[in-house]
Amino acid sequence: MLRSILRSSTSNASRRGFASGASPERKVAILGAAGGIGQPLSLLMKLNPLVTRLALYDIAGTPGVAADVSHINTGSEVVGYMGDENLGKALEGSDVVIIPAGVPRKPGMTRDDLFNINAGIVKSLCTAIAKYCPNALVNMISNPVNSTVPIAAEVFKKAGTYDEKRLFGVTTLDVVRAKTFYAGKAKVNVAEVNVPVVGGHAGITILPLFSQATPKANLSDDEIVALTKRTQDGGTEVVEAKAGKGSATLSMAYAGAVFADACLKGLNGAPDVVECSFVQSTVTELPFFASKVRIGKNGVEEVLGLGALSNFEKEGLEKLKPELKASIEKGIKFAHQN
Ligand code: NAI
Repeated sequence: MLRSILRSSTSNASRRGFASGASPERKVAILGAAGGIGQPLSLLMKLNPLVTRLALYDIAGTPGVAADVSHINTGSEVVGYMGDENLGKALEGSDVVIIPAGVPRKPGMTRDDLFNINAGIVKSLCTAIAKYCPNALVNMISNPVNSTVPIAAEVFKKAGTYDEKRLFGVTTLDVVRAKTFYAGKAKVNVAEVNVPVVGGHAGITILPLFSQATPKANLSDDEIVALTKRTQDGGTEVVEAKAGKGSATLSMAYAGAVFADACLKGLNGAPDVVECSFVQSTVTELPFFASKVRIGKNGVEEVLGLGALSNFEKEGLEKLKPELKASIEKGIKFAHQN
């Protein structure tokens, strides 16, 4: 297979200039950068002024993506890396590693097929992260997040590098959807909306807490049920609209960029950086759970509790636990057996 590394034409002078600014130098690596999510995510991270170096890694297609993105006149240096033997170089020195590598579900594939392929990819990428950038904040996008995050944790434990503060399952798309759908129904300005989304990142394990949504609105029980279902089925809505041509990529890239930006701000010491994420948790009896998380200089600074829940949300919480537990256990089992 053709392997290559492509460097952007960003000059040393402009790199030095950027480095002398107020923010520290930050390297972000995107693994799976040539994919449906990876490409727009690469674009959005190139636009992020907190990024000084952007490493774009994939098993194919990264020279083109890196050449394209590198022409954008923002301060960061873009380097494309392709193929296994360049993975180490892509990862070295990374502060944040974002993983949208893997396959979306295709016709004829069972969920287990998808699980096995993506679980294997995540396992090998995390093995390399443990070796080349064990201190990076890992943003896991590859599905099923409910299982891939526990797999990553087991890989890091085995390598002796596990730090629960540095591993995040990206559930931001659920929050993005919940905000958009709520704003539409409540007729409030979407830019002002906040909705925590807790639990996990698949079907009924996604639990939006509309009782805590702000600005407050007087929505009926039926409207809350419908909003909850729409948030849980948001991925399917996109898959069906794309008629077999893929799953959410653009909204996911946006969500991934929002979450990575929060990680960079936290690392840089910005106060009160709070996002929902699927992390190691004691909020419930499950070992991993999504809830609001305060992100700081070392990653997770605080896992925030659930707050007051409506009866509907309490029921949803109890219903999701068995499925989430099974997905977590499936990931752990995979990591041990393979
Ligand atoms: P895609 O097939 O368009 O892109 C995946 C990319 O990963 C491809 O460029 C492929 O070459 C690359 N890849 C495969 N094996 C790799 C390896 N070992 N190392 C590095 N790169 C590798 O898929 P798409 O639509 O971008 O989705 C990617 C993943 O994100 C899927 O697992 C999907 O289910 C998940 N996803 C997660 C969401 C979330 O909210 N967390 C939302 C939507 C999708």
